[in-house]
Amino acid sequence: DFEKMNITKIINYKNNKKLTMITAYDALFAKLFEEIADMILVGDSLNMSFAGKPDTLSATLEQMIYHTNAVCAGASKAFVILDMPFGTYINENQALQNAVKVYQQTNASAVKIEGGEDRAHIIKHLTSNSIAVMGHIGLMPQYVRSEGGYKVRGKTKEDEEQLIKDAIAIEKAGAFSIVVEGVLSHVAKKITDAVSIPVIGIGAGNVTDGQVLVWSDMLGFFEDFKPKFVRHYLDGAQLVKNSVNQYRSDVQDSTFPSKDEEY
Ligand code: KIV
Ligand code: NA
Repeated sequence: DFEKMNITKIINYKNNKKLTMITAYDALFAKLFEEIADMILVGDSLNMSFAGKPDTLSATLEQMIYHTNAVCAGASKAFVILDMPFGTYINENQALQNAVKVYQQTNASAVKIEGGEDRAHIIKHLTSNSIAVMGHIGLMPQYVRSEGGYKVRGKTKEDEEQLIKDAIAIEKAGAFSIVVEGVLSHVAKKITDAVSIPVIGIGAGNVTDGQVLVWSDMLGFFEDFKPKFVRHYLDGAQLVKNSVNQYRSDVQDSTFPSKDEEY
């Protein structure tokens, strides 16, 4: 009884039911998540987990379009969001041209852009030209180089007030939802209460309208470090390594393939 999501349904989840979002970068995993997650995000985090880069900044629009097409091909019933990469929405016209390209070249339902009050005019330009936009405030990975690192937000009264202003500006600009990342939980609660669109948290406590996790983090495939906010639902890396070790051992002692596995 899975029904494809749309922005009206997503907005109606607020104060009713929590939203579950997960990233996917390819058709295989997208298909596994398709009828379970409410939204699938083709995050620019793929630049780190898939392309092995140190941050998200070098992701390109072409790369995001390529992965989004793979995700949409594997999960045609999913509500898919493409993360606009760094440098593709620096002014209104460029942002719109790039977002139009996304709609023309993929089946993504929406785009996500990082930034608060300062970028609300860009969100407004997109939404008034029929692009569905998800905001992203708090810790914004595309600001890592200019901020000098990944920093938890909301630690001062001033920052708390700025985050609330950011959320309100994004809602006013017509976004249907906002990701709030790396924010003190009591501040995330105030942000969530300040807007009537769903707030999707990551590293923001259980006070938001939903959660998002990067699939390779939550399934334990990424072993370098585990941020505090990640829960490992699977020991993916260990399971994979055990299986590949077993395969090698079966090859070495000629127990693979067996008689049943040959022509
Ligand atoms: O790129 C990404 O995966 C994201 C989520 C962590 C929200 O932006
Ligand atoms: Na992202």
